[in-house]
Amino acid sequence: MKAFEEILLQENFDKSDILRMLDCTDIEHDMLVNRAGEVRLNSIGNKVHGRALIELSNRCIKDCFYCGIRKSNDSVERYTVDFEHVKSAIDLAVESKIGSIAIQSGEQVGSEFIDYVSEIIKYAKAKDDNLGVTLSCGEHKPDTYKKWFDLGAERYLLRIEVSDEKIYHKFHPDNKMHDFGSRIECLKSIKETGFQTGTGVMIGLPGQGFEDLANDVIFMRDFGIHMCGMGPFLPCDGTPLEGTKSEFDDVFMVSLRMIAVMRLIMNDINIVASTAMETMRKDGRMRAIEAGANIIMPNINPVEHRKKYTLYNKIPSYELDSVDKIMKSCLDTIPVGYELGLEEKGNSRRFLVG
Ligand code: 5AD
Repeated sequence: MKAFEEILLQENFDKSDILRMLDCTDIEHDMLVNRAGEVRLNSIGNKVHGRALIELSNRCIKDCFYCGIRKSNDSVERYTVDFEHVKSAIDLAVESKIGSIAIQSGEQVGSEFIDYVSEIIKYAKAKDDNLGVTLSCGEHKPDTYKKWFDLGAERYLLRIEVSDEKIYHKFHPDNKMHDFGSRIECLKSIKETGFQTGTGVMIGLPGQGFEDLANDVIFMRDFGIHMCGMGPFLPCDGTPLEGTKSEFDDVFMVSLRMIAVMRLIMNDINIVASTAMETMRKDGRMRAIEAGANIIMPNINPVEHRKKYTLYNKIPSYELDSVDKIMKSCLDTIPVGYELGLEEKGNSRRFLVG
């Protein structure tokens, strides 16, 4: 059998290598994370880039079993941030020199929503042509993706959530709106449109094992993603998965390993230190950066809205309503030896080199 050190130094990894890295001992975990940090510094340097996150709306047409803002969750008070508030959030992002915004929303497909996102992109680009715009607004028709891309949005994140069709069906209603094939088609369409394309999975869904996670990693590699956003599954009240437990007792550590493994396998992609990591542990984002993540997403939504964007049971929110607070939140997350990239889009190196 190959020594663990030997696996870490490889350039190409097969499924057994990936499994070995995900299902490792504590000492090996540290070796893996250190190696991922090294690879990251060599491939994309020490900068961490931010995306000021605006959770635009918690209205959602979907009913994913794990998600707190699923359509059938009647206990959620629904909101859509109005244009005035979106505009001031964008102004604040520009003022803070954060470099990019990310617009995330529950899934909605009507023309009103599509036009609203278009107006937001137009405003952002008019305000600052150099401001990066990432969208995470769900499944749409190719012409909608094209419309948003042509208006200047450059990145799109659509999580596959779980890359195995059978497991996907376990966590989504069995109907056309939750079709695995359509989700893959959307992801392809996003890439073909020209977006820097991101996807990702939840880690530790009930019944999901290391082998499934290894398959998720292979899916992301083979799809040729440019960005990756992953996080631990956190059971959420008011959903069919309320009261369930993550498959892994140490899902936080497994999530760090997923980040590290993605960094080893796709050296130059963008990887997000996700909010779910921060929800699990106060230093969650910092630990994710040490494990190879290079993107943070300070949430600049007003707390009044953030309280209602309940994808999972959350820790109380804090208001990031001034440049100072945004800066502090970012800088507090950056480990020693790393640097916050300001006034830069922080585009995916993988995308730029093709
Ligand atoms: N635990 C962790 N992540 C979740 N998401 C939705 N529900 C949960 C949950 N209970 C993630 C999904 C979605 C993203 C916006 O939030 O991956 O794509």
